[in-house]
Amino acid sequence: MINSNLKSIIVPKPWIIEAAVQALREYLELRPQATLIEFGTGCSTAFFAQFKINQISIEHDPRWHSQVQLYLNQNNLTWVNLELIKGNYYEVLQRFQQNSIDIILVDGQHRLKCLEHGARILKPGGLIMLDDSQHEKYQVADQFFSGWQKYQVVGEKPNPISGEIQIAQATWWIKP
Ligand SMILES: C[S@@+](CC[C@H](N)C(=O)[O-])C[C@H]1O[C@@H](n2cnc3c(N)ncnc32)[C@H](O)[C@@H]1O
Repeated sequence: MINSNLKSIIVPKPWIIEAAVQALREYLELRPQATLIEFGTGCSTAFFAQFKINQISIEHDPRWHSQVQLYLNQNNLTWVNLELIKGNYYEVLQRFQQNSIDIILVDGQHRLKCLEHGARILKPGGLIMLDDSQHEKYQVADQFFSGWQKYQVVGEKPNPISGEIQIAQATWWIKP
């Protein structure tokens, strides 16, 4: 069932530690023409929408997609392209030319594949961010970013549903 009381669920504050959000904010403020792709939608979708950039937000879960689309509709955020893609949704990146995208946020499914394919389409100077990069399974991600500038932050991340505080890490790389 769709919950129409979205103000309590979706707020323009990404479910990512604040230091990483600050890095995204600073990056976007300098690039009003940016094109952004995010994997894993929700509060980050609402946050990015504030910048009125070219935003493509990819979601795998039909129910959550409906919730986020309702939020966008209720707030007239018509410039956000929210797409529902099930399965290997990183394959959507084949649609984009090499060196064509400014920012990619990887915060959903198939994170390593999203990073690998994202590296190709990012512009020189572009930023790709992985949330929850502390997990062992993501340590191999560096292989996609040899020679790129790397930044890493650790901090508290409140779960917007339970309110529980988690310690998490976010990592981002800038393409040379
Ligand atoms: C880590 S979350 C993505 C979070 C998003 N980038 C943000 O900052 O809010 C990964 C997936 O969890 C699901 N999800 C996110 N928020 C949810 C919520 N409040 N309730 C149910 N599912 C949620 C969606 O399918 C989403 O793609």
